[in-house]
Amino acid sequence: MLALLYSFVFLTAGAFAFPILHWPRTETVSNVVCTDSSVTLDSHETNVALLQICGGIAGSIEKCQGSPTTTTGTSGGSEFTITPVNSGDTINISKGRWEQGIKAVAATCGADKPFTATFTGGATTGDVNVVLKQA
Ligand SMILES: *[C@@H]1O[C@H](CO)[C@@H](O)[C@H](O)[C@H]1NC(C)=O
Repeated sequence: MLALLYSFVFLTAGAFAFPILHWPRTETVSNVVCTDSSVTLDSHETNVALLQICGGIAGSIEKCQGSPTTTTGTSGGSEFTITPVNSGDTINISKGRWEQGIKAVAATCGADKPFTATFTGGATTGDVNVVLKQA
């Protein structure tokens, strides 16, 4: 009887684990262009800059605040710019997707390399175009 109860609990938990746990979703990126392979940005500045988008997404802030129509994040020589693909959209990308997208691009261009790319979702009706360049 106890074994039956355990297996019931286990199976039930298994069936609901996916929606409950919010397993990390890998952000998909497209149109990746490595815009200047001769430039390597300062990795600390790039890491600070990526938390400066939307007026700041550091700490407990989990998504872009304030529904901006475009936003930049700058630190030292590193500058990110986000612009919605669909005009009229506002940006509401989550920090998780944002950081996953940047990692996905780094897998193609290398870390701290200037790029342009499209991140799936991230705005109210569609995708966002992302630029990392030397400021
Ligand atoms: C962004 O807005 C869209 C449309 O309102 C919504 O479906 C999506 O869940 C929002 N994303 C975040 C991270 O709040």
